[in-house]
Amino acid sequence: MRALLAFPFACIVSGVLSFPLEIYVNDFLEPSFLLDAKFANDTIFAQQSIIQWAGELANQGPWSVLTSKPDGFNAPSGDPHDYLSWAPYWWPDCSNVGNKTELTPQQIWTTCPYHQRDGQFNPDRLLVNNTGAFQALADAVYYNVLAWRLNGSSTYSSNAVKFIRTWFLDPETRMNPNLNYAQVIRGPGSRYGAHTGVLDLKCMAKIATGILALRQANSPDWTGEIDAQMTNWTADYINWLQTSPIALGEGWAANNHGSFYFVQLSSLYLIINDTNGAKNVTQWFFEHQYLGQISANGDQPLEAERTHPYHYRGYNLAAIMTNARIAYYSGLTDVWNRTASSGAGIQQALDYAIAQPAGEEPVLEIHPYVAGVGAIYGDPEGKYAAFIKSQNENYPEEPYFLWTQPLSDSGFALGHTTTVSNSSSSSSSSSSPLKSASRATARFENLPAVLYALACAIACALL
Ligand SMILES: *[C@@H]1O[C@H](CO)[C@@H](O)[C@H](O)[C@H]1NC(C)=O
Ligand SMILES: *[C@@H]1O[C@H](CO)[C@@H](O)[C@H](O)[C@H]1NC(C)=O
Ligand SMILES: *[C@@H]1O[C@H](CO)[C@@H](O)[C@H](O)[C@H]1NC(C)=O
Ligand SMILES: *[C@@H]1O[C@H](CO)[C@@H](O)[C@H](O)[C@H]1NC(C)=O
Ligand SMILES: *[C@@H]1O[C@H](CO)[C@@H](O)[C@H](O)[C@H]1NC(C)=O
Ligand SMILES: *[C@@H]1O[C@H](CO)[C@@H](O)[C@H](O)[C@H]1NC(C)=O
Ligand SMILES: *[C@@H]1O[C@H](CO)[C@@H](O)[C@H](O)[C@H]1NC(C)=O
Ligand SMILES: *[C@@H]1O[C@H](CO)[C@@H](O)[C@H](O)[C@H]1NC(C)=O
Ligand SMILES: *[C@@H]1O[C@H](CO)[C@@H](O)[C@H](O)[C@H]1NC(C)=O
Repeated sequence: MRALLAFPFACIVSGVLSFPLEIYVNDFLEPSFLLDAKFANDTIFAQQSIIQWAGELANQGPWSVLTSKPDGFNAPSGDPHDYLSWAPYWWPDCSNVGNKTELTPQQIWTTCPYHQRDGQFNPDRLLVNNTGAFQALADAVYYNVLAWRLNGSSTYSSNAVKFIRTWFLDPETRMNPNLNYAQVIRGPGSRYGAHTGVLDLKCMAKIATGILALRQANSPDWTGEIDAQMTNWTADYINWLQTSPIALGEGWAANNHGSFYFVQLSSLYLIINDTNGAKNVTQWFFEHQYLGQISANGDQPLEAERTHPYHYRGYNLAAIMTNARIAYYSGLTDVWNRTASSGAGIQQALDYAIAQPAGEEPVLEIHPYVAGVGAIYGDPEGKYAAFIKSQNENYPEEPYFLWTQPLSDSGFALGHTTTVSNSSSSSSSSSSPLKSASRATARFENLPAVLYALACAIACALL
């Protein structure tokens, strides 16, 4: 492997920051972006956050489908290696099966008939938490590989590889390569999951980001044996995604479910090193679902009709843009200029989405994609930067600010001129960036924390 980087910021030190961990809906980063590691000097605050998030997430791992289910409780197949999650809006009626309070949770799950209450989440749905575990795994891999490129320590790359092995490969803990039991409706009898449950693994794009960088940098942690095993697992899972009636139902969905199906499938093709396969799959998306998703005025009617339109417009944009990033990487270089049948494209959809009133819905979730549009299409008047700043004045501390360049930092770093340094600066400033970032973080904490909680809850749960 090449000598570990010219560290862009040798002055980064580890420390205790309190910048809160968030969940971005999805993203994909090209390996060359991570391998070149040439980052703008005012992204240093984002870099610090990335390293902090990587450490926080790593402390929670590893994860597997076995350890994120209650002891001894399995999918209807009885196989502990099968992924399991529950349909979120379904509630038990135990009136005809004895006294509810004398039943264990597991007995309730398997003996009481369940009924749908539209829009009402059953709070116990995450007691079987394979969904949360996969989400955390995907973020842990993504941020640990990023931190490895920023900091150079193989602690981070070995973290990422260990987490991948535990979830997918190690015989004791591996997940079977199917989602036959995602979003199962609970109750008596053996059941299969729903096609909507395929969404649970949409963040495979973050894992593909990590694997491609590890592979192309020839990380000693990512051995040929591990690569071959992961390719094997992924080929089996691709076969399931392209042949199972459950999965195909998701592939036909016209709305964000269909968009994320192609994000996931193209990510898997990248993991098996089949770039043409990834290109075909994303091209398919842009020549099918995408055509019907954006109206001439930029609205996304299939998302706008949902109960949380501000969230869903941003959510589907996250899927479209992740598809576009993968498509571009795979050789579909005109993808950012492609339009839906209406003539409107990604930028119009973003412009429309952020012009709508958010009401009670969280506003920060869409920011990585506003920043992405600003970086990709340009932001000469600074309108995207200004929009983000109006809702989060410390946005250059957000990890996404690293990979949505060029984008103005709205003068943020200038307020920290004594502390921001470039790659050739001496290490004499080594402790100051941390201090200034801490000051900024203190302001950041004044943002309503509830917005983050809401954004995360909705990003994780609304399906
Ligand atoms: C990388 O992180 C380690 C552990 O926190 C730290 O000791 C080291 O100084 C960092 N290296 C760089 C180049 O920032
Ligand atoms: C159900 O069980 C609880 C606790 O064992 C008891 O307090 C309650 O009276 C019982 N209810 C009925 C309807 O049997
Ligand atoms: C599910 O797992 C995630 C990731 O580990 C965790 O943050 C969350 O608190 C868990 N939820 C429950 C209900 O245990
Ligand atoms: C890949 O899977 C095949 C059969 O499914 C098996 O024979 C082979 O040993 C596996 N290869 C690796 C590297 O695990
Ligand atoms: C991936 O594919 C490229 C081009 O098709 C090839 O050069 C490279 O060796 C492959 N890498 C692996 C790990 O198979
Ligand atoms: C391209 O992708 C589509 C959608 O998944 C699939 O139906 C088709 O078979 C693929 N074509 C090739 C040549 O792989
Ligand atoms: C869109 O197409 C124009 C004309 O070919 C090109 O100059 C521009 O860079 C493209 N935009 C993006 C974002 O790819
Ligand atoms: C970043 O570097 C550029 C020159 O490359 C300089 O003009 C700018 O002032 C620097 N920003 C900070 C915050 O140091
Ligand atoms: C980086 O910092 C060094 C030393 O402070 C300075 O000489 C150099 O011009 C700077 N480079 C850039 C690109 O800002």
